[in-house]
Amino acid sequence: MAKVVQIMGENFPELFKPAHIAKLKVRNRIVMAPMFTNFSSPDGEVNEALIAHYVSRARGGVGIVIVEAACVSPTLCNQGPGQLHISRQRFVLGLNRLNEAIKAYGSCTFIQLVHPGRQTSSQYCGGQPVAPSAVACPLMQEMPRPLDQSELQQISREYVQAAHYASLAGFDGVELHAAHGYLINQFLSAHTNQRDDEYGGSLANRQRFLLEIVAQIKAELPDLILSVRLNIDDFVPAGLHPEESLQVCQALEKAGVDIINCSSGTYESGLNSVEPAAYKEGWRVYLAEAVKNVVRIPVITGGMIRSPEFANQILAEGRADFIFLGRPLLADPDWANQACHNRGAYIRPCINCNSCIENSFKGLGIRCAVNPFTGRETILDRDTQVRRSARAVVIGGGPAGMQAAISLRRHGIEVAVLEKRAQLGGFMQIAAVPPHKERIDELRQYMCRQLEQAGANILLEQDVGLAMLQKLEPDIVVVATGSKAKHPAIEGELSANCFEAIDVLGGQKQISDQEVVIIGGGTTGCEAADFLARQNKRVTVLEISNILAVGMERKNRRILMNRLAEAGVVKRTGIEVVKIRPRQVIIKTDSGEEILPADCIVWATGFSAQDELFTQIQKVIPLVFLIGDARQVRGFKDAILEGEWIGSTVTGLFI
Ligand SMILES: Cc1cc2nc3c(=O)[nH]c(=O)nc-3n(C[C@H](O)[C@H](O)[C@H](O)COP(=O)(O)O)c2cc1C
Ligand code: SF4
Repeated sequence: MAKVVQIMGENFPELFKPAHIAKLKVRNRIVMAPMFTNFSSPDGEVNEALIAHYVSRARGGVGIVIVEAACVSPTLCNQGPGQLHISRQRFVLGLNRLNEAIKAYGSCTFIQLVHPGRQTSSQYCGGQPVAPSAVACPLMQEMPRPLDQSELQQISREYVQAAHYASLAGFDGVELHAAHGYLINQFLSAHTNQRDDEYGGSLANRQRFLLEIVAQIKAELPDLILSVRLNIDDFVPAGLHPEESLQVCQALEKAGVDIINCSSGTYESGLNSVEPAAYKEGWRVYLAEAVKNVVRIPVITGGMIRSPEFANQILAEGRADFIFLGRPLLADPDWANQACHNRGAYIRPCINCNSCIENSFKGLGIRCAVNPFTGRETILDRDTQVRRSARAVVIGGGPAGMQAAISLRRHGIEVAVLEKRAQLGGFMQIAAVPPHKERIDELRQYMCRQLEQAGANILLEQDVGLAMLQKLEPDIVVVATGSKAKHPAIEGELSANCFEAIDVLGGQKQISDQEVVIIGGGTTGCEAADFLARQNKRVTVLEISNILAVGMERKNRRILMNRLAEAGVVKRTGIEVVKIRPRQVIIKTDSGEEILPADCIVWATGFSAQDELFTQIQKVIPLVFLIGDARQVRGFKDAILEGEWIGSTVTGLFI
């Protein structure tokens, strides 16, 4: 019989074509984008958590790992409590371990060098932040102190010294962080650089700081690959824009820079460097393409590139030479290997929720909503197998239940998943409905495939009760029954035309009326408003607190609020609903009551845990676990994490 030989990467030949950057040979065109983790020890040292994080991405097959932004200066440089440092000789020891660990898995290694300038806070950097000029960052809201020329020379020297440390630690290259509104970008931008010395004014002066650093590194370390991450567009009025940035690219090429990593956006522009879900896949490739037209050195593009097909196409069309992936590698470290083995359907999709970066803004280590292992590589036990046979029943096929079943199967436990509905996914099916949330359905489908591949026995449309469970005789029961909508009892609701937001989003209830009042302006209420406004309904959202969608990640929230404003949704906060009548909602005002017209009313006043079954069976079955929203309503990030925990917890009991 003829043997079928599968050529690795055959579906994506451009993506898996080896390349050279100067003399450096790279195994493929996939670059792990630098991503600040907050994993280092408080003094900026490499530790085991950081090494494990990068090793899993190198093992996953990327061509180059660009280690996250590392501080070049010992002072005024930190942006978080766990930021990596490359500011003194003593850090070289740990950086060398990190470099070797990554290289052991075949990736080339760069490390990004950063000084944040004004984009930090005194809380983290230990003093008044510095900048080219006294122009405050609207996000950080601290007035920076302008640097004098001797301080400038000192920081410039610190960049060069950091490159020496990187070289000593064995890195193939360094990347100057000249993007995203950090210090070098602040010099390049006429908006943040208002100096009147030879470092401000004309573009030639504004790029002097960057070019001086480049010249020194090239002169002192000619064999070290030098990458510059540059904003091709700041997307800020009077900031760096392509007309100037393309000239900077040409100057960088002339100065000997080996590769340009194209990016965009600053803290002030808000949405264009770590984009919310509303941005289209590859929306900023045009910026790299423009750079490619003016330089001959290799160019990296990225930002919202999610599928191997799309990445391969960009390369095939000659629009860039390398593709960077950021969040996709937090969601799935094995992205490159899965693509290489034509297993694209098994790449765990990033859903663009931005809870990873939100964590780092809170001063916490990054975590991924869909991948419980990110940031927990050294903590979670992935593979230990049970030594005694064990049978588990998981009740509920939502995110918590599915992940619990996947995890239990991975640890060698027999699993049956009992789901009430005709489809797996639980609340994910509804969460995927509002505009720009489609990727949640991709995640649902991915988890279904994982579950099937894991060999779990899936039983749909099951009405589970105690008698049924006792018949199955499981060793372990996991209750993951999710949550249900709740609302306060309000006078008159029974006689009015009322619906639950989840039924509207889930398609169980169609609204034909025109004037819709949504009671509850949390994330679900606002998303339901967006959904209904797109169907040309006149929508009013009433929220009792003073902020709408209060728990939502800030970038996605900003987009949602803009969309509600564009669609003419009336948003009212600090509103208490006192009564409902047919076609009317009555709210409390300072002067008494106000009547709002409402053809129909949509409840979006939150959820409560659905834990009744747990309470019943706990008394009869010895090993019962309650996880996800059924334990406490929080959403699927916690649900997936608790699902994964079950595997480790239970395995320990059957060894
Ligand atoms: C958690 C997180 C941390 C980041 N830290 C850095 C960083 O240290 N340096 C940098 O240049 N970009 C940083 N970025 C931006 C990414 O490198 C990347 O440009 C961005 O996430 C868009 O690409 P993606 O859609 O593939 O994630 C960070 C992004 C995230 C999500
Ligand atoms: S936390 Fe959300 S945005 Fe970040 S990598 Fe995970 S899925 Fe993507």
